[in-house]
Amino acid sequence: MTTSSLTQYFMPRIQIDVHTDAADLDAMRSELRAGLLSTPRTIPTKYLYDDEGSALFERISELPEYYQTRTERELLAKYAEHIIACTDAQELVELGSGAATKTRILLNVMHRADRLRMYVPFDVSEGIVRRVAQELVLEYPTLQIHGIVGDFLAHLEHIPNGGRRLVVFLGGTIGNFSPTNAVKFLSSIYRAMEPGDYFLLGVQLEADVARLEAAYNDTAGVTARFNKNILSVLRARIGADFDPDTFDHSAVYNRNAHRIEMRLRARYPLTVYIRDLDLTLNLQAGEELLTEISTKYDRPRAETLLAAAGFLTQHWYTDPHALIGLALAQKPI
Ligand code: SAH
Ligand code: TRP
Repeated sequence: MTTSSLTQYFMPRIQIDVHTDAADLDAMRSELRAGLLSTPRTIPTKYLYDDEGSALFERISELPEYYQTRTERELLAKYAEHIIACTDAQELVELGSGAATKTRILLNVMHRADRLRMYVPFDVSEGIVRRVAQELVLEYPTLQIHGIVGDFLAHLEHIPNGGRRLVVFLGGTIGNFSPTNAVKFLSSIYRAMEPGDYFLLGVQLEADVARLEAAYNDTAGVTARFNKNILSVLRARIGADFDPDTFDHSAVYNRNAHRIEMRLRARYPLTVYIRDLDLTLNLQAGEELLTEISTKYDRPRAETLLAAAGFLTQHWYTDPHALIGLALAQKPI
């Protein structure tokens, strides 16, 4: 082996920064207390995703009822060449990257164009960021991975500086914000980008209500397990003595707000004690905890969000049934 190939062989190609440490314990406790005591009682969505939650979401992605992932994958397969040709990017940053399955479609096109330098997976779920990094260095022999484990609402400034970047936010995760909060979040992404960088946003579009509700109430019960897993996460993180079996999963479309609302409903009157908050919750029979919203858009409303954050939308891609939209936007130079 020559010196240079040895160097290449031993040079660490993975760096993972973790920003969800003990320093944030107070922040975690106060956000959970505020949510549980608000009306309606709410648990922030990110607590769905520990290792178990991330694994369950991967199973959701493959369910027959959950059409969103495969539709977005097909769209990417069809338009990845066009997207990458527009952007000139050498670095791919992905917010809420999860298992990064669809991401490979973009990475492949960048790799074939000999433009792939760096991938930055950013996710709150540490195990999946580490797994994806290990997988991708094997799949792409020269790729550098700089993973960020953190909350994209708090830690965007830790995204490393690089060359021309393409930031992607897929899976309809933008729908987990209200439109007002979505604009605030898109503005924070905009501020973290350099002029000329591109942004690819995946949005879930309005669809038939029966189809939408089925996507969040699968017959195999995986989504119900995923939703209830948030209670196990709170048990582990703040000593909340929730029994997931005393709650029912509920996912209903709210037409006025254009969104699916995911809740956990107490089957009967319950008392829950939360050790680390020294807080007792008395829930009535039927009382609900809101765990997630999933807002559905149309093209004009999606482009309005992007424009409000300062982005220039350059292309809009959609499937023949208009179930998913991909907007390719730029931070102007
Ligand atoms: N991009 C993947 C996964 C979507 S699921 C796909 O398209 O299939 C949403 C992802 O966002 C999960 O991996 C979850 O862990 C992550 N996530 C949710 N809230 C987050 C937060 N506040 N900060 C960082 N990541 C978050
Ligand atoms: N971002 C996904 C979506 O809104 C997350 C999701 C899918 C989800 N199924 C769920 C969240 C069930 C909570 C419960 O489609």
